[in-house]
Amino acid sequence: MECRQPITDKIHWIGVNDRETTLFENFWPLEKGVSYNSYLINDEKVAVVDTVKFNKTNLFLSKIKEIIGDRDVDYLIVNHMEPDHSSSMQALVNAYPNMKIVGNKKTFPMIEGFYNITENFHEVAEGDELDLGHHKLKFFLTPMIHWPETMMTYDQTEQVLFSMDAFGGFGALDGGIFDDEVIIEDYEDEIRRYYSNIVAKYSPIVQKALTRFADLPIKMICSTHGPIWRNDPGKIVDYYDRWSRYEAEEGVVIVYGTMYGNTAKMADYLAQRLYEHGIKKITVYDASKTHVSYIISEIWKYKGLIIGSCAYNTQMFPSVELIANKIEHSGLQNRYLGIFGNKSWSGGGVKNLVPWSERLKWETVGEAVEATYTPREAEYEKLDALAKEMAEKVLANPK
Ligand code: FEO
Repeated sequence: MECRQPITDKIHWIGVNDRETTLFENFWPLEKGVSYNSYLINDEKVAVVDTVKFNKTNLFLSKIKEIIGDRDVDYLIVNHMEPDHSSSMQALVNAYPNMKIVGNKKTFPMIEGFYNITENFHEVAEGDELDLGHHKLKFFLTPMIHWPETMMTYDQTEQVLFSMDAFGGFGALDGGIFDDEVIIEDYEDEIRRYYSNIVAKYSPIVQKALTRFADLPIKMICSTHGPIWRNDPGKIVDYYDRWSRYEAEEGVVIVYGTMYGNTAKMADYLAQRLYEHGIKKITVYDASKTHVSYIISEIWKYKGLIIGSCAYNTQMFPSVELIANKIEHSGLQNRYLGIFGNKSWSGGGVKNLVPWSERLKWETVGEAVEATYTPREAEYEKLDALAKEMAEKVLANPK
């Protein structure tokens, strides 16, 4: 008995939890694991929507068998080709050799490239439909959320949207699989960490996609990661809308790189002064200690960022440089930015953060503050002025 889960009379969650993989895409920490959600529509024709990562193939196949017994899978619908969802495809083809693989014209070269599968393809284009008997499916092409072949499948019969990565997040499904069966607040930070690091670069495309679904009646959103949204699908759509418009909450993130504590001292002073100037939500990160993905997620959440770096061989400190690069390439906008650092004997932190900030085109607050070795009275006064101006800006325009 493999704990198969019906999500309606005829649609089953046949996903798996992965608590073994340490790094998603071999980079993003999975402290709370991740789920690879796959779905089976048990109709006159049987359709599977996406598969799971290769380390869970056997469990995945046994779940299918338990539901359909000796019947065939007629269709595999490939909404997304990233291997966390496609790498059980070959095993599924082996088990069901007559199965048609449904994708769009960008899907099939990837299938051939990754898995050397070249036949039984059923190509769909924008708005095409597939009749399973009772369930009538419709396909929406959503390229670049976040790969070129990505598409979504809408079940018009039960008004269920199979949305591939969109609206999903990190975190294994510990017991419940629906938004009303888990403590959804526990998942929200991981959903934003997924969005801000994996999807966010394509926020303008997300905005366009959301307008296409605005008039579609949706009872349930079934992503390939995280909880299924059946109680309040509007909530996750609203999050995506706000994140992809770069909307923020009132608060300031301070992130710094330090070797011997002087830049850290400046960060702590800034945090205290921000608080005294009226900012209540302040998070301070040592860039070398916390993985960049958690810091980016917080920067995506809050209106203000103050970033500081010591000098390191005439450059920014490496862990700060990684964050700066990630911010620049994410396309995030609509934030206030302050800069500080420590020159030591070479300079390099502030010297490189200033041109980076000019490329970013965020609104810069105050002047960049740079100490030489230990910060002294003159630098503390400048830090205070920076904190005051940042607080005023954020409080006046928190979103
Ligand atoms: Fe969950 Fe883009 O893969």
